[in-house]
Amino acid sequence: MQKWVEGTVVNQKRWTQTLFTLQVEADIAAFEAGQFAKLALAVEGEMVARPYSFVNAPKERPHEFYYVTLPDGPLTRRLCKLEAGDAIYLAPRPAGFLALSEVPDGENLWLISTGTGVGPFLSILKSEAPWQRFRQVVLVHAVRHAEELTYRDSISRLLGEHGEQMRMVSFVSRESKPGALHGRIPLAIEEGRLEAAAGVALSAKTSQVMICGNPEMVTDTSAALARRGMKKHRRREPGQITVENYW
Ligand SMILES: Cc1cc2nc3c(=O)[nH]c(=O)nc-3n(C[C@H](O)[C@H](O)[C@H](O)COP(=O)(O)OP(=O)(O)OC[C@H]3O[C@@H](n4cnc5c(N)ncnc54)[C@H](O)[C@@H]3O)c2cc1C
Ligand SMILES: NC(=O)c1ccc[n+]([C@@H]2O[C@H](COP(=O)([O-])OP(=O)(O)OC[C@H]3O[C@@H](n4cnc5c(N)ncnc54)[C@H](OP(=O)(O)O)[C@@H]3O)[C@@H](O)[C@H]2O)c1
Repeated sequence: MQKWVEGTVVNQKRWTQTLFTLQVEADIAAFEAGQFAKLALAVEGEMVARPYSFVNAPKERPHEFYYVTLPDGPLTRRLCKLEAGDAIYLAPRPAGFLALSEVPDGENLWLISTGTGVGPFLSILKSEAPWQRFRQVVLVHAVRHAEELTYRDSISRLLGEHGEQMRMVSFVSRESKPGALHGRIPLAIEEGRLEAAAGVALSAKTSQVMICGNPEMVTDTSAALARRGMKKHRRREPGQITVENYW
């Protein structure tokens, strides 16, 4: 099989000093909301490749990726210099298990993210399945600074389309921001502040939880949920927690 498909950058949007959205046209295989593509650039004759979650819904084009530049990051410091018309390489087949087809039924669905981990959940929320399968859907997005609460127009549109069925809870950890919770997700779960802010029960009986982003947040949030009797979902041993670590 062909190793790389050449795609074309359609647009590069800069949200903050370090946060970017890249739009790409490329003829790659179909994906399921929540999955990722592998993006690559040639550096001194070698391909440098990393996975990035799709932000666009499976039916939408162009493909869209939301990323943060890391100091000295081999790929991200090059990705952020790309402009419309530039070439970029993609693996021909998307992959990944942070998809609703991997998640059992429940009354409500919690999509818990830090930083750029909100991306795959936007793709999921723009698809039909969550609205058909769950009575309520809660998106949680935690960032350090208020300016990192990106994609608010898309989230407002989703809230408008889905009314009471969708809830949104934002966290800003390093400054105070009206309308956002302060601190970190795991403690807010332990204290009941997250449930109270969402107005939706978070329990083993009612909830399925997908978690994406910082691996320490994934671990600490999973532990807070475990103290509520929830466990990792496995195909052979059903549970309530489905996760993806970004590093
Ligand atoms: C399944 C999967 C999906 C991913 N999807 C995305 C995505 O949609 N958007 C995105 O920005 N990244 C995503 N990542 C991370 C991405 O693949 C790269 O690792 C990242 O962009 C850094 O690449 P780099 O070559 O610049 O630096 P690297 O040398 O690869 O990374 C440097 C260090 O930066 C930290 N880091 C890596 N990614 C992040 C991140 N997203 N936020 C904060 N710190 C990070 C880690 O400590 C890492 O060791 C995903 C990773 C996985 C495994
Ligand atoms: N964001 C920036 O201003 C900035 C600037 C330059 C470079 N960078 C680099 O870019 C990368 C990404 O930064 P980021 O801000 O997107 O991601 P991040 O460090 O994962 O922070 C995102 C959110 O996750 C929270 N968090 C971290 N560890 C947690 C845990 N164990 N449990 C629960 N919540 C946790 C953070 O809270 P806390 O605030 O309490 O940690 C913050 O609210 C980092 O490697 C960073 O060094 C970031």
